Amino acid sequence: PAPGWAIDADVVVVGSGVAGLTAALRCTAAGLRTVVVTKARLDDGSTRWAQGGIAAALGEGDTPEQHLDDTLVAGAGLCDEEAVRLLVTEGPDAVRRLIETGARFDTDEAGAIELTREGGHHRRRIAHAGGDATGAEISRALVDAVRERAVRTIENALVLDLLTDAQGRTAGVTLHVMGEGQHDGVGAVHAPAVVLATGGMGQVFSATTNPAVSTGDGVALALRAGAEVSDLEFVQFHPTVLFLGPDAEGQQPLVSEAVRGEGAHLVDADGVRFMAGQHELAELAPRDIVAKGIMRRMREQGTQHMYLDARHFGADMWASRFPTILAACRAHGIDPVTEPIPVAPAAHYASGGVRTDLHGRTTVPGLYACGEVACTGVHGANRLASNSLLEGLVFAERIADDIAANAGRGGARAGAPAPHPAPTALPLLDPAARARVQHVMTTGAGVLRSAASLAEAAERLEAIHGEAVNGDYKAAEPGVESWETTNLLCVARVLVAAALRREETRGCHWREDRPDRDDTAWRRHLVVRLAPDRS
Ligand code: SIN
Repeated sequence: PAPGWAIDADVVVVGSGVAGLTAALRCTAAGLRTVVVTKARLDDGSTRWAQGGIAAALGEGDTPEQHLDDTLVAGAGLCDEEAVRLLVTEGPDAVRRLIETGARFDTDEAGAIELTREGGHHRRRIAHAGGDATGAEISRALVDAVRERAVRTIENALVLDLLTDAQGRTAGVTLHVMGEGQHDGVGAVHAPAVVLATGGMGQVFSATTNPAVSTGDGVALALRAGAEVSDLEFVQFHPTVLFLGPDAEGQQPLVSEAVRGEGAHLVDADGVRFMAGQHELAELAPRDIVAKGIMRRMREQGTQHMYLDARHFGADMWASRFPTILAACRAHGIDPVTEPIPVAPAAHYASGGVRTDLHGRTTVPGLYACGEVACTGVHGANRLASNSLLEGLVFAERIADDIAANAGRGGARAGAPAPHPAPTALPLLDPAARARVQHVMTTGAGVLRSAASLAEAAERLEAIHGEAVNGDYKAAEPGVESWETTNLLCVARVLVAAALRREETRGCHWREDRPDRDDTAWRRHLVVRLAPDRS
């Protein structure tokens, strides 16, 4: 659709989680005319739901080097060590700046930041807020700062496509906006720099910890714009998600790893602690190992979930340290003070995404990516717990600095003649196809995958695409749900193709038919760049 309105800026930030708002605040501080566009309300993304916290070497005796070692081990041979080094060395100061911006972390009686443990960390290194409401506090602080500093924002604005100039450089984005006064309907923000901070794609699966807005919009946009995308096969399944029944759909309540970090045990249907003996860190092994341990035991016992037992915390500790999780469990009729919590793995985090360099630049000039939508190289084949908020902070700052340093040099100018729309090859999908895509992904490309399950998933996704091309699943009207469904199908097809190609088990990619890690053939990344007519 042709834009009905347009505004000019120096930079447009798409998304309003920790990555997007950090980038926007720093760009604004550098004097850049900055516009934040976001699909729902400013605080509706994944950041608000983060529980455990933010990892950084802040504790006595801890060092960035130790944080680096744990991150590399979790990443199973595919981290970019230089990117990880930046993350862990710049991380502590980035957290201190976040505190200066207004985020309040939990402290001990002496006023020092309290640190907890999570899977894969050999030390207490996770700063938290409100007990288990870390993301909500970070989001509050950043949204307050954005409002105080009068950063221009457009809410309820779904990004559609990248605009490029005649030289193929970024020139802004098109948007579908609902009910925001003069900026209603399809419009455009013209800007020589675009920062994608759209979050993840958990909604590509039936059950996920991600909120409803996590539909892979940024990765789909980047693919349509011809940017490189990498590591999409590495979908992290969080081991301990509250089990609400085999048919539960959509966003599911998380039970933070920090609960295990504070001493909760995973037990099977017979009450046996099955992770002890599987890994030196037992329940605090890296996330992929715990998820696999749970899946194996579920299979052995023919059950649909395991249990997390933290009755020994007692009522006071539950109420003060994990109030959010306590309330969520009780809302579903489970009292963790008196009974073990039923848990099972669910889709949680996309370790891959739009490929960037160390300044967050993608392969399309002027297009940047940070946060979950990006693949900066810090996560490799499996993200270390609580490194994601940190990545959002550190790389958003690097991006803002790069944009500020290059402003006015060589890029398309805001206010320049109308940019060329990016080539968007669609059929726009009927939202009715969404549940079908999610079901295909959950059965064929979930925690356990094989060549057969993935090939079948690929075939069924192609069939949905084919039906859309033929008109059966074609949306009658463009709208947010049809765009989201189109984006979900786009990322699902690329994800399944990558998972099928990677014939090994590594990190969070578990191929039952290829159970071993193969460092000879597969210590490499799968990078995808779609031809403009293939989305
Ligand atoms: C959690 O609190 O368990 C989630 C932490 C994360 O995903 O990094």
